[in-house]
Amino acid sequence: MTAARLILTLILGVVQLCRTEPRPGKPSELLVITAATEVTDGYLRFMRTIRQFNYTVQVLGLGEEWKGGDVARTVGGGQKVRWLKKELEKHKDKQNTAIMFVDSYDVILASGPEELLKKFSRFSHRVVFSAEGFCWPDQRLASKYPVVHHGKRYLNSGGFIGYAPEVYAIVKQWKYKDDDDDQLFYTRIYLDKEQRRKFNITLDHKSHIFQNLNGAIEEVVLKFEKSRVRARNVAYDTLPVVIHGNGPTKLQLNYLGNYVPTAWTYEHGCGICDDDLLDLSGLSDEEMPLVHIAVFIEQPTPFLEEFLERLATLNYPHTRLRLFIHNNVVYHEQHVERFWTRHRSLFPGARIVGPEENLKQDQARNMAVEACKKDVSCDYFFSIDSDVALINPDILRILIEENKSVIAPMLSRHGKLWSNFWGALSPEGFYSRAEDYIDIVQSKRVGVWNVPYITQVYLIRGETLRSRLSAVSLYQQEGMDPDMSFCKSVREQGIFMFVSNRDEFGRLVSSTSYNISRLHPDMWQIFDNPVDWREKYVHENYSKIFDDDENVVEQPCPDVYWFPAFSDRMCDELVETMEDFGGWSGGKHNDERLSGGYENVPTVDIHMNQIQFEKEWLKFLKDYIAPVTEKLYPGYYPRAQAVMNFVVRYRPDEQPSLRPHHDSSTFTINIALNRKNIDYEGGGCRFLRYDCKVESPRKGWSFMHPGRLTHYHEGLPVTRGTRYIMVSFVDP
Ligand SMILES: *[C@@H]1O[C@H](CO)[C@@H](O)[C@H](O)[C@H]1NC(C)=O
Ligand SMILES: *[C@@H]1O[C@H](CO)[C@@H](O)[C@H](O)[C@H]1NC(C)=O
Ligand SMILES: *[C@@H]1O[C@H](CO)[C@@H](O)[C@H](O)[C@H]1NC(C)=O
Ligand SMILES: *[C@@H]1O[C@H](CO)[C@@H](O)[C@H](O)[C@H]1NC(C)=O
Ligand SMILES: *[C@@H]1O[C@H](CO)[C@@H](O)[C@H](O)[C@H]1NC(C)=O
Repeated sequence: MTAARLILTLILGVVQLCRTEPRPGKPSELLVITAATEVTDGYLRFMRTIRQFNYTVQVLGLGEEWKGGDVARTVGGGQKVRWLKKELEKHKDKQNTAIMFVDSYDVILASGPEELLKKFSRFSHRVVFSAEGFCWPDQRLASKYPVVHHGKRYLNSGGFIGYAPEVYAIVKQWKYKDDDDDQLFYTRIYLDKEQRRKFNITLDHKSHIFQNLNGAIEEVVLKFEKSRVRARNVAYDTLPVVIHGNGPTKLQLNYLGNYVPTAWTYEHGCGICDDDLLDLSGLSDEEMPLVHIAVFIEQPTPFLEEFLERLATLNYPHTRLRLFIHNNVVYHEQHVERFWTRHRSLFPGARIVGPEENLKQDQARNMAVEACKKDVSCDYFFSIDSDVALINPDILRILIEENKSVIAPMLSRHGKLWSNFWGALSPEGFYSRAEDYIDIVQSKRVGVWNVPYITQVYLIRGETLRSRLSAVSLYQQEGMDPDMSFCKSVREQGIFMFVSNRDEFGRLVSSTSYNISRLHPDMWQIFDNPVDWREKYVHENYSKIFDDDENVVEQPCPDVYWFPAFSDRMCDELVETMEDFGGWSGGKHNDERLSGGYENVPTVDIHMNQIQFEKEWLKFLKDYIAPVTEKLYPGYYPRAQAVMNFVVRYRPDEQPSLRPHHDSSTFTINIALNRKNIDYEGGGCRFLRYDCKVESPRKGWSFMHPGRLTHYHEGLPVTRGTRYIMVSFVDP
């Protein structure tokens, strides 16, 4: 990451302004003039491109009140011409100075002054306006335009370049109101043959310099070069210098702006990485920004305890956090309660809103965001939904350092393309797949990306909430879900939303098939949330089985292997589930499927299919036991099928032991579910053929031994308490 930035800095360093010698008819100097009343994200992006190519720029109107009308929806913009007229009085006599006027909020520059002036010279005209395919704002003027056989016919005033005297002579004719239309003004001058000749005006029909995107989106593609990306117009085979997201093409410009003009390499690149980062490293705890964290538990969510626990392990001074939790799920009250009992001291001034307050999701989100808006000391608002598993404890620092108004960490469901952002919108405002979506989700392209939709977790600057978003109802819009409403509001305020995949932040948890009528519903999540399942239910030293330096696998008897399998949590939840189910019965596994002439023995047990856990159990066998088998019995590739999967209960007064028997399996696994000498005494297993006993089973550890013939064995008597084991006959 640091290296990428360094390279970028070096590239920026060599971009130079070219000054040609003053010659008649050749521009020797270039001044870019733009108009902006507010410092928006679009303005900052424009200025970044100005700096990157070392243009000289004059900004008109900053801090002034905009009186030019709502140009996004209707006509207007005259105020810009008035400002330009005044400014150009200073330059009107400079024969060899080229003036380029461009809008700023929706414009990026894709190349430097040298290329721009060269292209301008090739026009052999004194003034060049950009062109587009729509005749706006007065369609009746269309027929008055000179005919163009190949290229765009109509004038667009969002960008033009010309020699100072001519440009001044044009704008000095302005004598209209601030909200009169600037484009109509320039159009009339252009359509007047006399003036067109006098000022020697032409249009850039084929986007040599100016690319207006409206009506031309299909013509513009990204061209990936070795060290940078250019936008190319494939209809005219040109490389435009000025790209203008006019009309309804702001999002397409945002997309192009992720690549243009930043230096970017395909292998390890970056969308918008050239920003200066905020540096929090020198700050003491008390000086760190104050962050309001808002947690939303809006539906039953797997692994919620783990989610809440992670809040307590954020690597951020807790005195600078204000926690808000909206829990709308009665089932989760126990989890929030437990979290709160344990960690309340970490979160002074927290607010927890439970299901009894009957707050709808949008109301809860509004309440949280309003709290930050009203608190001028709230530097950031961090919104996080319960289905987000953040594994990066530094997330707050990292996101704050990116210094964006709105930024989300990129997260996806494990191994899936389902993520918390969209790269593009359909015309109806819903999901549409951007060309680079998959590359970003899979981190084949790495960077900070300007996108039209983010959800589930994001950081907003408090200042942004109190300024541009102050009067906006972020989460409540007629007929819209809160997430859609949020993104639409933010987009409409001209605020860029970014998603970063520069760091690894975590994953999304799927809550689509979560059945809270089960006692421990997370146990059933091995399919939907395999990573969370593993972290919770698989023994923490399981992976060491495959590390030959670790020697975790023991062999207490010939061909009997012993290795860590379940976490304590899995053992406990499985036993509790069985006891809660309660259908203990004798001899269940002594059924007709156990053929082959072996003698079978009755046990007090409950089978996995009785608790509807068979599918999940087989998945566990396949994902976790089969690899162990392959390692321990080289050459044997288990099908990992098993029809006999059950928990056995041994008690002195019920069934204390199991007489010698064979298992009708290729091999058997036998996992101890509780602790000897604490939960029970006695117990263990004896393999008669080798006269070898394992008398001290370990909770969560599994035996694995061949089933038929060789491993005739018995269950040793339990003398006190209750012992539970999980048994599975694999590949019968
Ligand atoms: C940028 O342009 C200025 C003149 O406007 C020049 O003095 C300076 O050296 C240029 N810097 C770079 C990095 O090209
Ligand atoms: C514009 O001026 C150039 C010389 O600068 C000339 O060659 C060209 O014919 C002029 N075009 C028009 C339309 O007057
Ligand atoms: C952070 O962003 C703000 C607002 O966009 C800007 O004014 C400031 O210069 C940025 N800080 C750094 C270190 O880039
Ligand atoms: C949900 O769990 C209950 C209790 O275990 C069970 O009876 C029911 O079939 C389950 N529903 C689904 C859709 O799996
Ligand atoms: C995992 O192995 C380490 C090192 O041997 C040990 O300290 C730790 O207790 C083991 N974890 C469990 C849950 O047994």
